[in-house]
Amino acid sequence: MDIERDIVENINCLEIPNKLPQNSIDLIVTSPPYWAKRIYNGSGELGSEETPDLFVKTLADFFDAFEPLLKKDGNMFINMGDTFFGSGAGAWKKYVDKEGNITQHQRNRKEKFFTTKPLQPKIKQDGKLYQNKQLLLIPSRFAIEMQQRGWILRDDIIWRKPNRIPASVKDRFNNTYEHIFHFVKSKKYYFDLDAVKVMGANGKPKNPGDVWDINTQPLSGSHTATFPEELVEKCIKSGSPENGVVFDPFMGTGTTWIVAHRLNRKFIGTEMNKDFFEFAKERFNKSIPVDNHSENLDIETKKQMNLKLFDD
Ligand SMILES: C[S@@+](CC[C@H](N)C(=O)[O-])C[C@H]1O[C@@H](n2cnc3c(N)ncnc32)[C@H](O)[C@@H]1O
Repeated sequence: MDIERDIVENINCLEIPNKLPQNSIDLIVTSPPYWAKRIYNGSGELGSEETPDLFVKTLADFFDAFEPLLKKDGNMFINMGDTFFGSGAGAWKKYVDKEGNITQHQRNRKEKFFTTKPLQPKIKQDGKLYQNKQLLLIPSRFAIEMQQRGWILRDDIIWRKPNRIPASVKDRFNNTYEHIFHFVKSKKYYFDLDAVKVMGANGKPKNPGDVWDINTQPLSGSHTATFPEELVEKCIKSGSPENGVVFDPFMGTGTTWIVAHRLNRKFIGTEMNKDFFEFAKERFNKSIPVDNHSENLDIETKKQMNLKLFDD
């Protein structure tokens, strides 16, 4: 079964392997939740594991679950940021009630559905890895875990954020970058370097390199961890053919969907948070240029044509 249309669902991405055929996806581009940074959906969600180690293993399990869906020559780009041990320890319980639901206090905050404060579970300090101020190297641990499971790591791309707001810290440098890991399943894989070459000083196109300077692109609304479109564009252009299928399991506000559509790729997306899911659909619909020439179709029909749900 070929995927003919975009499919987006308000579901846990772990349901996807049961719904899609194997070898149907050309590219996965995504930004999973970081460890102990935000609450998106409530207790027990990805990112709320008791330890960084458990988080790394759980996250790798997610991508292993998607592996059969990815074509043999497919690509996967995963964006990740790091965490310091001890930042905001104990704050977790302020944001969730005894049942693990997000408190009304938290819902009333400006950034409604998650906190801007780190929410680390209390872990006993051991004077080694677990001591306050320690940079946990979670992205590196994740990349190593993936390698040990058989994924081939092709790049550790640094996404540098030139517009990063200076932090108030006084005893270290401001963090201005995140990682984008490029994984593949086999040694021969699709890759279109020409599609993303940049102009060199000699006036000839050159390889853009593995440090990408891209400003963050805040969205109005409740979601601050959005992908910049330029970042997604580079991954999609290099990592998938036109008319290929792009999958973002942690779709958030739908940036990957919008860019995939603009670049003539089909899109599969899942998002567990209902509000983000609705926001993503609205944002996507607004991003579609209306074709004024096919007067027989009203705008709603045109929008719906781009979207197919599993339970249709
Ligand atoms: C870092 S955000 C992604 C932001 C996205 N790149 C954008 O441009 O808006 C991670 C998202 O994953 C969602 N999420 C977390 N666990 C999930 C799961 N198991 N299935 C689907 N979505 C999930 C969260 O609700 C959150 O919106």
